[in-house]
Amino acid sequence: MATLETTVNGLKLPNPFIIASGPPGTNGNIIGKAFDEGWGAVVCKTISLDATKVVNVQPRYARLRARDSSEIIGWENIELISDRSFDVWVEELKAVKDKYPDRILIASIMEEYRRDAWVEIVERCQELGVDAFELNFSCPHGLPERKMGSAMGEDPELLEEVAGWVNAVATIPVWAKMTPNVTHIEDPTRASFLAGCEGVSAINTIRCVLGVDLETLRPEPTVAGYTTVGGYSSRAIMPIALRMVMEIANVIRDEFPGRSLSGIGGIETGDDAAQFLLLGADTVQVCTGVMKHGYGIVRSMKEDLLAFMDKHGFNTLEDFKGKSLEYFSTHSNLVEQQAAARTEDQGKKKVVEADDQWSGDDFVRQSNDLARG
Ligand SMILES: Cc1cc2nc3c(=O)[nH]c(=O)nc-3n(C[C@H](O)[C@H](O)[C@H](O)COP(=O)(O)O)c2cc1C
Repeated sequence: MATLETTVNGLKLPNPFIIASGPPGTNGNIIGKAFDEGWGAVVCKTISLDATKVVNVQPRYARLRARDSSEIIGWENIELISDRSFDVWVEELKAVKDKYPDRILIASIMEEYRRDAWVEIVERCQELGVDAFELNFSCPHGLPERKMGSAMGEDPELLEEVAGWVNAVATIPVWAKMTPNVTHIEDPTRASFLAGCEGVSAINTIRCVLGVDLETLRPEPTVAGYTTVGGYSSRAIMPIALRMVMEIANVIRDEFPGRSLSGIGGIETGDDAAQFLLLGADTVQVCTGVMKHGYGIVRSMKEDLLAFMDKHGFNTLEDFKGKSLEYFSTHSNLVEQQAAARTEDQGKKKVVEADDQWSGDDFVRQSNDLARG
């Protein structure tokens, strides 16, 4: 019988499904709800020492729906980190750990570019008994105006320095959360590991403008007539997240074996999760999926992942972690593989093989024939 249990950086999880930092982990009550529903771990909403500087706006979300259904496929937010005071958080996180001593509670933290502030927040969170840290180097809106969040994550040197401050005092595992708003995700990944982080999480949201209202001519979400660039999440970002997870997994395999990777971005089903694990993730995190479907989705996610494992005869997550990484190659190698594998059937099918074969009349069919899915 397959098991979803896993141990990552010494943290024992009943399953790899983790609540990602955001609204689904924004106070003690709902963190408890997540554990009751069966989530493997929770990363709390990002906390800082001085929440008085955090002022949110309403509305702060805008959503993109598929054209042929009402399904939400993309979600922009301009939400900041937690606006709740550090002292309140200390009480609530303590109470959660008292009630759920065996469950994994990860503190997402963010501070300004000051060593003493990072040391203080790490030491005070450790005292209250959290199991690990996730360093938010990746929130792409609002906080970068104060040189926080992705302002640090986009600069590997800065990231390495700050993560170094944290690792000098942390006695529990430290994960650094990556921003996707960089050209090469490998650079901040290496910086995190060189600074001593046990793992990285990827990805946070992608900088976006969700759309413009054609009646008012105002971009969304509109706050008193204006907006600001936000962060994009939900299903639409999964392909980008998978690519970045694959790139990070290669860095881990080749340069930092033993470090961990938590995959994030558009995950809503067990099949989505299986894909992140096949590309090298140890765990997966879900934020917008919970906002769309509720905490209960973890049940079907677990069932679906187990069904996938049974189908392929995998007993543990380790049996298939990173298994699909070997199927990436260079384009020139694909050309060679294709020539070697060409069957008579493929030769007969009239797909476009050279650019002069595209026809204006048959354009959509030709495009479809070149696609999978
Ligand atoms: C409304 C909202 C608030 C978020 N707040 C935080 C946060 O406080 N800290 C953080 O590290 N990530 C935050 N995130 C990012 C998510 O944790 C996650 O990285 C991202 O949304 C992609 O995953 P998803 O598609 O499952 O939502 C937030 C995301 C959303 C949608």
